[in-house]
Parts: sequence; C-alpha cells; structure tokens
Amino acid sequence: CGIVGYIGNQDAKEILLKGLEKLEYRGYDSAGIAVKNESSVQVFKAKGRIADLRRVVNVSATANTGIGHTRWATHGVPNHENAHPHQSTSGRLTLVHNGVIENYAILKRDYLDGVAFNSDTDTEVIVQLIEKFVNEGHDVEAAFILTLKLLKGSYALALLDNQNDDTIFVAKNKSPLLIGVGNDFNVIASDAMAMIQVTDQYVELMDKEIVILTKENVTIKNLDGQEMIRSPYTAELDASDIEKGTYPHYMLKEIDEQPAVMRKIIQAYQNEEGQLVIDYNIAEAVSEADRVYIVACGTSYHAGLIGQQFIEKMAKIPVEVHVASEFVYNMPLLSEKPLFIFISQSGETADSRAVLVAIKELGHKALTITNVPGSTLSREADYTLLLHAGPEIAVASTKAYTAQIAVLAILANVTAKFRNQSIEFDLVKELGIIGTAMEALCDSKEEFEAIAREYLSVTRNAFFIGRSLDYYVGLEGSLKLKEISYIQAEGFAGGELKHGTIALIEDGTPIIALATQEKVNLSIRGNVKEVVARGANPCIISMKGLEEADDRFVIPAVHELLTPLVSVIPFQLIAYYAALHRECDVDKPRNLAKSVTVE
Ligand code: G6P
Repeated sequence: CGIVGYIGNQDAKEILLKGLEKLEYRGYDSAGIAVKNESSVQVFKAKGRIADLRRVVNVSATANTGIGHTRWATHGVPNHENAHPHQSTSGRLTLVHNGVIENYAILKRDYLDGVAFNSDTDTEVIVQLIEKFVNEGHDVEAAFILTLKLLKGSYALALLDNQNDDTIFVAKNKSPLLIGVGNDFNVIASDAMAMIQVTDQYVELMDKEIVILTKENVTIKNLDGQEMIRSPYTAELDASDIEKGTYPHYMLKEIDEQPAVMRKIIQAYQNEEGQLVIDYNIAEAVSEADRVYIVACGTSYHAGLIGQQFIEKMAKIPVEVHVASEFVYNMPLLSEKPLFIFISQSGETADSRAVLVAIKELGHKALTITNVPGSTLSREADYTLLLHAGPEIAVASTKAYTAQIAVLAILANVTAKFRNQSIEFDLVKELGIIGTAMEALCDSKEEFEAIAREYLSVTRNAFFIGRSLDYYVGLEGSLKLKEISYIQAEGFAGGELKHGTIALIEDGTPIIALATQEKVNLSIRGNVKEVVARGANPCIISMKGLEEADDRFVIPAVHELLTPLVSVIPFQLIAYYAALHRECDVDKPRNLAKSVTVE
C-alpha cells in the first residue's frame, strides 16, 4: 500500500490524487482520500484504481489538508468498506495505514469490546483505539502515542482530527514514510517520487517516531516525547523519468531502456583510468567473507541465482541464494564469516527487510543492491551498491533485473581482483558488447510479437527450459509470462523435466528452450527432442555460434558467462506481447503490487 498527506494552502485533493497515482505500484485494488476543511472531514473511497477514485471525488470539496491511500489488500477483501481512510465511531478521527498490525485481533478483544466495526481491516482497530483513549480524556497526540505503544507489526500512519484544524499526526514503524518539506506547506508520502511534483526536500523518519505536521512545522518525536532534530535532504529524482512519453506501456519503455542502463552502470562504476571500481570497504567485506548469502524475492531472487555463479566463478567464494520469506523461519547454519547481500529493486520489500533485521541482530554485515537510494534496505545495511536503472514503474521488473545482473558481475569482478583471482576477460568491453546486443534485440520486437502470437495466443500453459544459466533465465521468463499474461508458466532445468513434469506435455504444449551455453547445448537440444516426441511445440532461442536450422530466434553472441543480460530480453518481449494479445493490463497486473511492504 502507499500513503500520502498534504497540509498547506492549496487544493489538497488534486495533490493527493496525483501523489497516489505515483504510488499505485504499491497496490491498486482500492483507494481513498479524506480532505478536511474547518471542522468537517469528507471521505471518498473506491474499489479499483485511482482513476476510479477520481470519479467519486466531489470536485467542489476544496480543502487545504488531506490524507490518501492506495491499497494492496491484506486483511479483508478489496471492497469499498475495507478501503482506507478508516474513521472512528464518532467520525472525529480519520486514518490511513500502510503495513500489517499483527496483534490487531488481541487488541480488539482486550480493548474494544462492544465497539461496532465498519470494516474487516486491522487498520480500523488503530483508529478505534485512539478514539477510546481520547474518550478517556487524553488529547489526540497522547492517545496516538498510547496506541502506538500497543501495536505489534508494521505501520506508516497519517491521522486527521476533526477538532484540530491544522495538524496531521504521523507515525512509522518498519513501513517506509518520508516527510516532504515545502514553503508554507508540508507533505508525507511512502516515497519521494509521489510528491516530487511539489517538493524535492525530504526528511527521513526512523522506526517508532511520530511527527506533528502543520503547514509551517515538522516536529519529530520519539515515543517518549523526546524531540528529534533532522535536516532535509534533496531527493535527486527527475520528474520526467517517471513519464511514459510516447510508449503505450511503462514495461515496453523500460525494456527499451536496458541498453542505456548498461552504459550508465559502466559509467557509474568506472574510474578515470577506465577500470571498474566499487567502494573499497565493500570489496574488502565481500573478499573477507567465507560464504556469501544472497537474499531476495521474485525477480531479484532470479538475479541472485545468476549472481551466485558470478561470485563463485570469478571471486571463488561459495554462495548460497535464499528466498527471503523462507529464510528467517528456516535459517541455514551460517558459516563463520558470512556476508549477506540483499537484492531489491525497491529496497522496501518487507520479506527481505525481516531477514536484514534478523541477521543484523546476529551481528553480521550486509550489502544491499538496490535501485532506490535512501530506501529502507539501503539505509539499514552496512553498504549499498546502486543499480542506476532509473525509476521502474511497471510492476513486472525488466531493466532492474538486468541492472542487478550487471552490478553483480561488477561486484564479482572487482572482488576477484581484490582476491588476486585471474579473470580472463575484460568486463567493461563485454558489457559494451552486451549494450549493442540488447539494442539489436529491442529492435526485433516484431519477431517476438510473432512468437507470442504463434505459441501463446490460446494456450493454458507454457514451459521454459534451459540448463545452467539458461535455466535461471527460464525461471525469470516464466515469472514474466505468468505475472502479466496469467498463462500458467513454469521454468525447469532441462534435465529435470523427465523426472516428473514431462507428464504435463500434451499435443501443442509450448516449450520455450534457451540454448546459449556451449557446454550444455547438445543436452538441452536432447531435452527438446524428448518433449517434441510427446507432442510439444518447441520454440528454441539460441545464441549465435550455437544455432541450428530450426531455431526460432538467434541472439547475438556475447560472453558465455554474461548471456542472461541478453537472453532475458526475448522473454520479456514475448511476455509483453502475450499479455497484449490477451488484453491484460500489462503495467498493473491483477493481484500484484510492485513493492510489497508487508511480510
Ligand atoms: C514484488 C513484485 C516483483 C518483485 C518482488 C521483489 O512481488 O511484484 O516484481 O520482483 O516484489 O521486489 P524488490 O523491490 O525487492 O526487488
């Protein structure tokens, strides 16, 4: 979910709606705003997108203060009642919340017996609790703090009080939240992008802090009432980066940006002599580790699998890759000197953050690889490497995945040199070749559209197979396809199919096979023959130099270890066109959110 707030002299509702549009990547199943003028608060809510909310917002409801929310449902189905903002029984207090209150049922039972609830959300418990404490004689600030002390879980909160004209009460724990500072106005937002149109000055909040926000002042306190002094930083975001331009979808724009991102990354990690460099402390920390643990979710996890190969092959350090949501509860036996690498486009994923908190408690060091400077995972880790991919808006990740792989290659390469391991190729030169190969692939859109039409127009399912690095890219290809086209797609190691999954092959089942690795070229082709013998419809994508007559597409040759950077592009484009042909919402697929800030 994402939240915004505005307090100033302008019409709040337009600023809130525009802010929420920028936060839709965090969830888009329902939305709402509350605007406040003198002593009345008006609440508007809608199931669906911000565009649906716009239709129900009364244009004449002018107000200079307001809060807003876009939701990715956790507690309660996405409907009008469960949409935020939520109000207390008397209507005096109005609240938006991003996060999950783990003990909401206990609080409801212990403190709110007899209170009639209007929704199934955990959030309503918070606003009802604040009202209970207000009814007992506390002022709103004190009641807010009393409530916060009872909450277990994650929250970014913004609260309006009917009887207090010029204040928004704000609090944060685990969920991201920033205060934007302006001239005669202040704002709050889950990220800086949401409010970059009105200010580029932001103040960071720490966990378990509250803010008393007026249009002139930002007063930050901890839960003991002690004031915190913190100066704003300038958010370096280019508002034009987040526009779609002439592209029909962000996803297509972001796929096309990949060659430029490669060049940006080379630039960012090169010194004046043209050598690849990273912060000395990072190279040292990785070099000294006896084992690297990569932790991530979704697409970032898939990038981690490639990163494992890079670090093991170049730097010769053993690596394990873990899905974040499994790690904390199923922690492997750690080595004596572990180094953790968190890979996260957004830097906000709650599953990954939970692992970061747990390993920090154990005293271990962490490096975050992220696209978002100042994000939670970046702030809380010891070190950060940035992706330099520019804002990624489409829910399905594309340019961040290739950026992650490139940065992991650079990390492995620099660490290898630090450890005096010999590398027999020039990574800068190879990444340059990759940029050009990426361009050629982005110029071949018609061919990928044709493949999508031919193989995926009517099918229920599809399989992506490959061996070695191609297997990992297949996992990412299948994730792209299922995320945006809703076709049931699975990635398999070519050799593993025969041990069970081959039972699913029927006449015409699409099998998309990747063949970019010389050492396994013959065996993956053997696996294709096995499924063809059982009726499958094969689509082989190979690399120049390894191609055979019937291959459907041949990608330009690049260094064998770096093929994922290019071989994923056909899969991204095939998924894009399959989703278009099926008239799916490419940039905002059903049930998903780009940044999942709940565990
Ligand atoms: C969500 C998105 C995925 C993404 C994953 C991890 O589930 O829908 O596309 O890969 O989160 O996100 P992160 O920002 O941590 O890379």
